[in-house]
Amino acid sequence: MQAQLKLNSCFDLNDGNRIPVLGLGVFRTPSGEIARNAVRTALEYGYRHIDTARVYCNEKSVGRAIKDTMIPREQIFITTKLWKSDWENPREGLMKSLERLQTDYIDLYLLHWPFKGFEKAYLELEKLKAEGLIKSIGVSNFKIHHLKELKNAGATICPAVNQVECHPANSESELLEYCTKKGIVLTAYSPLGGQGRTLVNDPRIIGLADYYKVTPAQLILRWNLQRGVVVIPKSVHPERILENSGLFNFEISKDDQDSIDSINTNERRAFDSDRIDFRPQESFPVLTEEE
Ligand SMILES: NC(=O)c1ccc[n+]([C@@H]2O[C@H](COP(=O)([O-])OP(=O)(O)OC[C@H]3O[C@@H](n4cnc5c(N)ncnc54)[C@H](OP(=O)(O)O)[C@@H]3O)[C@@H](O)[C@H]2O)c1
Repeated sequence: MQAQLKLNSCFDLNDGNRIPVLGLGVFRTPSGEIARNAVRTALEYGYRHIDTARVYCNEKSVGRAIKDTMIPREQIFITTKLWKSDWENPREGLMKSLERLQTDYIDLYLLHWPFKGFEKAYLELEKLKAEGLIKSIGVSNFKIHHLKELKNAGATICPAVNQVECHPANSESELLEYCTKKGIVLTAYSPLGGQGRTLVNDPRIIGLADYYKVTPAQLILRWNLQRGVVVIPKSVHPERILENSGLFNFEISKDDQDSIDSINTNERRAFDSDRIDFRPQESFPVLTEEE
């Protein structure tokens, strides 16, 4: 059980840094006014963690919104991710992200997917961390065997975070247990179930949410927090951004945590990371950065 979690609570990372337990995700949040408003709103409501990626094409908007709020940079945790197009030159990829985000360091830089050659790209991230351009390095969409392969390839820094799809229908309990043993924090992406597929209408979730007098989204997110998993729900609606931060004035009992666990069917909705090299380019969403 995660005792006494608050909106500004953090989990400890294995490199001495800390990650806020709640972040705003911005995948498929269109760049420009929509992304800027979502990020500004989240920061006004007390979020201090934004999860973006080079390939979301909204780093510029995230950077602008952060500047607009005048909140000191060191109070905000920014995660972004290296895409495979930059794997030949991760430094250049990072420098472009820093420029778009208007910052001189990234709190958490992730290898977005285990595309072929991920080991070499990770070793480059280790160097960039040593230079202070990245505070923490991590991975995303890594299965247990990918984490082992990283170590076998000579990685000297254990990833601080593994960001994977994780919600009641795909609870990733085995991976969570493995990562926890290794000191790797799991971050849940698509923590509500993902765009167009959220679990907020699941009658089992609704029943329990009613019992706790919270919304289905709050119940689902709180379940992960109590497992020690960071959540980064995405929304472009202020009322939902606020709702998704209301996770800290109730606690799910052990029995009810177990009953949410039992919803799991290992139903991963995202692409299987073992087959990511075969994913057709046209199946990735087409997004554009603001001018
Ligand atoms: N590393 C990776 O490969 C990877 C992959 C996917 C996602 N991610 C990260 O994880 C973040 C979250 O994942 P996600 O965007 O896939 O899915 P998600 O957060 O599980 O769900 C987002 C969907 O839920 C809706 N929603 C948000 N709050 C709600 C609420 N309180 N009640 C009902 N519906 C609600 C959103 O709609 P509205 O926006 O219309 O409110 C949106 O359609 C992403 O934004 C991204 O930062 C990472």
